[in-house]
Amino acid sequence: MVSRLKVGIIGGGGWLGRAVGAALLGKGVVAPAGLVLSSRSGRVKGFDAWPEVQVTSDNRQLARQADIIVLSVRPEQFAAVAIDAPDKLVISFMAGISLATLEACTGSRRIIRAMPNAAAQIGQCYTPWFATPAVDVDDKTFTQAMFETCGSADEVDSEADLDYLSGLVGTGAAYPALLAEALLSHALARGLPRHIVENAVHGVVVGASQLLGRDGMVPAEMLKAMFDYRGTTAAGLQAMLDGGFQQAVEAGLDAADAAAQRMQARFAKTGQ
Ligand SMILES: NC(=O)c1ccc[n+]([C@@H]2O[C@H](COP(=O)([O-])OP(=O)(O)OC[C@H]3O[C@@H](n4cnc5c(N)ncnc54)[C@H](OP(=O)(O)O)[C@@H]3O)[C@@H](O)[C@H]2O)c1
Repeated sequence: MVSRLKVGIIGGGGWLGRAVGAALLGKGVVAPAGLVLSSRSGRVKGFDAWPEVQVTSDNRQLARQADIIVLSVRPEQFAAVAIDAPDKLVISFMAGISLATLEACTGSRRIIRAMPNAAAQIGQCYTPWFATPAVDVDDKTFTQAMFETCGSADEVDSEADLDYLSGLVGTGAAYPALLAEALLSHALARGLPRHIVENAVHGVVVGASQLLGRDGMVPAEMLKAMFDYRGTTAAGLQAMLDGGFQQAVEAGLDAADAAAQRMQARFAKTGQ
């Protein structure tokens, strides 16, 4: 059902803001006349098919018009946003800007922090989100519906969980890309032609990984099946584990979590 609520996306011309705006319209959750997008230039690409969508450079005007305000600017751009929205639901995509800072800067107590990623563009995004106590059931229902236009979503139990997930979910395809690059550089070093190597790596990292989740095939089961088979894959997996694969992944996630916490402390102190 199309919501009667008006949604304003500050930073609606950016990668994520555009993807979420287009998904809300494409899935019929918001009517074109119920969407306002802002950018500093007052121009936003990609919405020509919906002439009723409003585009503005005036964030204060957007905040007055919208029932729900989505903050989709980069964290370092937030200080310039300057909105006063005491009675509005505010949903922030920004990593490293805490609920306390968002409350202080917007005047709203109805705040949700969420961590989507670039896969929103292809409807394959998983979005964890966390809400302040003042967020009511209707707000939560809309929020869940909004994120389901881009894939799937869950409310999480604490802001700390959301911060941790920023370093896992917010990364989008970055970790698979790291694996792909490692596979690619090894195969190229063995002298194979680049186009063969690229096709092979794509087939494994993008193609075959789609088997995960099909017919209930979870990663642990997939690995067990490969180890039980005792073939070349088992040898490869065992050598990767012996080489510290798990420890490297854990160190990476810990480093991302620590970076999110440092960012939060910095923005809490300076607001910019
Ligand atoms: N992209 C991802 O995969 C991803 C994943 C997780 C979280 N996030 C978070 O989502 C947020 C948006 O990310 P993004 O990748 O979409 O960034 P982006 O492509 O750089 O988009 C940010 C947009 O904000 C606009 N903007 C900047 N200052 C503004 C202001 N004062 N008023 C109105 N608009 C303003 C910019 O447009 P103009 O220059 O035209 O003003 C820009 O298009 C960030 O906080 C990011 O950390 C992104």
